[in-house]
Amino acid sequence: MTNDKADIGVYGLGTMGSALALNLAEKGFQVAVTNRETEWIDDFVKEAGALGDHLTPARTLEEFVEALSTPRTILFMIPSGAPMDAMIDTVLPLLTAGDTIIDGGNADFNDTRRRFEQLSGTGAHFVGMGVSGGEKGARHGPSMMVGGTAHSWTQLRPMAEAIAAKFEGAPCVAHLGPDGAGHFVKTVHNGIEYADMQMIAEVYGVLRDGARWDAPRIGQLFDGWRQGPLSSYLIEVSAAALQTMDPETGQPMVDVIEDRAGQKGTGRWTVIEALKMGQSASAIEGAMGARAWSSQKPARVAAETILAAGAVQGEVPSQDDLADALLAGRILAHAQGFAVLAAASEEFDWALDMARISEIWRAGCIIRSALLDDFAQAFRGELPHGQLILSPQIAATLARTIAPLRRCVGAAVALGVPVPALSASLAWYDSMRHARGTANLIQAQRDFFGAHGFSRTDKEGHFNVNWPDLNSPNS
Ligand code: 6PG
Repeated sequence: MTNDKADIGVYGLGTMGSALALNLAEKGFQVAVTNRETEWIDDFVKEAGALGDHLTPARTLEEFVEALSTPRTILFMIPSGAPMDAMIDTVLPLLTAGDTIIDGGNADFNDTRRRFEQLSGTGAHFVGMGVSGGEKGARHGPSMMVGGTAHSWTQLRPMAEAIAAKFEGAPCVAHLGPDGAGHFVKTVHNGIEYADMQMIAEVYGVLRDGARWDAPRIGQLFDGWRQGPLSSYLIEVSAAALQTMDPETGQPMVDVIEDRAGQKGTGRWTVIEALKMGQSASAIEGAMGARAWSSQKPARVAAETILAAGAVQGEVPSQDDLADALLAGRILAHAQGFAVLAAASEEFDWALDMARISEIWRAGCIIRSALLDDFAQAFRGELPHGQLILSPQIAATLARTIAPLRRCVGAAVALGVPVPALSASLAWYDSMRHARGTANLIQAQRDFFGAHGFSRTDKEGHFNVNWPDLNSPNS
């Protein structure tokens, strides 16, 4: 241990906090560390081995704050709800002007906006920072999405860039905007993560239930997709998981795992916030719904015998079709996520840079994939109406893959295999490519029963119609 003041403090030595503290120490920063349960601290420093020289353990909050060089940078890795609010109240009196406190958890961006506001005027700064990549990412290179003041970013930047994942040498961290911008972008990252995971699971479902393939065989197919346009961390994870055997039973591991998916809520927030802004991230909602239904296990077990499937008969799609369908679905789900980001940027005046967001998602985070590099280029190029799907390169990939997506969704429907996220993405694509949709009838219905009015195709203005009286004997 040195007597120098520490560059940064990490409060909270759980999985993510310890990993980030060790990552910072490894990059040569002096890190003050503490934890609510003080008995964890010594063990943590002991287990850090040689990196222990870069750690300054503190047993009280006062000692911890005192150990830091000013202006202070304090990273809190604690539960983001009430504990974060209580922590702010406790630590604020100990801080001086220019200090920055960072919430590195998966916080609701509405809370982050409120906390940012709470600190403004106190001299201290609040940063909401999304951290993606799980424990390994935090330890060896996460992707980080920062929201806060320019002052905080200047303070944090050298450390954040040093510990971040690198894509061809470029650090996967950026200051994305003020207040809740970082946590909002992380929320949408997680929404896309849900959709990406679900679409892979849907392809697995078509092969398992439609073609009766066993798990390792599906895993081998996914292995082959690890190179090329489908290359992604989640495909890699899925390929490896499907080929892992349970040492106890000798069965494929996935076959002995209950089909009930958990969630901590961030994917759900994406859908909620999208709806609040009058948007719809339907592919993400499809994935959310699938997780929700998965937890209704007893009802599904009963339904399997009560509910008839109807005539289920269909051809299992080819492997090439499935690969292309997955690519199209993933592009559409990402495009919906970016559309939600664009709406939030407008609503909260954040000026989010979609190209930068794509760039910092190219490495370190859970949704890292070859596609993100294509998206970064698309956002830097010509983009009609700001819509990712209208970029010439992306539209060309969709033109090639949409027929396979249509065939796969059609086949899954015929086989009775649910594909809620893939089909939602296709429905969105088809809605978007219709210059004339069917909302004219919705407007007629609204005017019919509620005199809500409508605009006409042939002249300016707001119109109502004397619709037929359904109660009149002549109608
Ligand atoms: C990441 C992950 C990470 C985590 C979440 C989502 O970016 O590293 O998104 O934040 O996996 O906890 O998990 P749920 O599936 O439980 O919502």
